[in-house]
Amino acid sequence: MVIQAAEPGDLPAVRRLLEAQHLPLDGVDEHVSTMVVAKEGSDVVGAATVELYADGALLRSVVVDPLVQGQGLGHRLSDAALSVARDRGTHTAFLLTTTAEKFFPKLGFEPIVRDEVPASVQASIEFQSACPASAVVMRKRLS
Ligand SMILES: CC(C)(COP(=O)(O)OP(=O)(O)OC[C@H]1O[C@@H](n2cnc3c(N)ncnc32)[C@H](O)[C@@H]1OP(=O)(O)O)[C@@H](O)C(=O)NCCC(=O)NCCS
Repeated sequence: MVIQAAEPGDLPAVRRLLEAQHLPLDGVDEHVSTMVVAKEGSDVVGAATVELYADGALLRSVVVDPLVQGQGLGHRLSDAALSVARDRGTHTAFLLTTTAEKFFPKLGFEPIVRDEVPASVQASIEFQSACPASAVVMRKRLS
């Protein structure tokens, strides 16, 4: 399986994966330029994206097809998306999760309170509306 930069043509398949895992779709299409996908042949089997803001990146839409979970793709996709953020000069990444708060610490994320998230990141759709207020907030330093 190959991890590569996403193309606009990958979006319908990414949206299907997200929908099947009950992850938010709001705002996903706007961040295809910083999205990575995992492909098996021409099939999209996983994705992750970062939204870049003035004071940090938001890692979101980390998803792997259930048929190929547990093979390291979730880690590889998250690392690849965080590398995109790092390469664009971002020093800190944040995320919101209701489903995988035990997965992300393996990638170096630690739980924080919402107040610690910079205003530019808190203004994102995911913070404002897509994720419930009860979601766990996490942070990772990239540099
Ligand atoms: C979370 C997810 C992306 C992980 O993908 P994956 O390819 O299975 O992950 P990896 O193979 O890289 O890592 C597997 C490890 O993570 C653990 N793991 C996977 N999903 C987990 C979850 N939801 N919570 C806690 N641990 C999880 C596995 O137990 C395994 O642990 P081990 O390495 O100690 O054996 C995948 O389970 C998924 O798509 N889940 C549904 C969508 C989701 O919740 N995404 C996060 C949104 S913020």
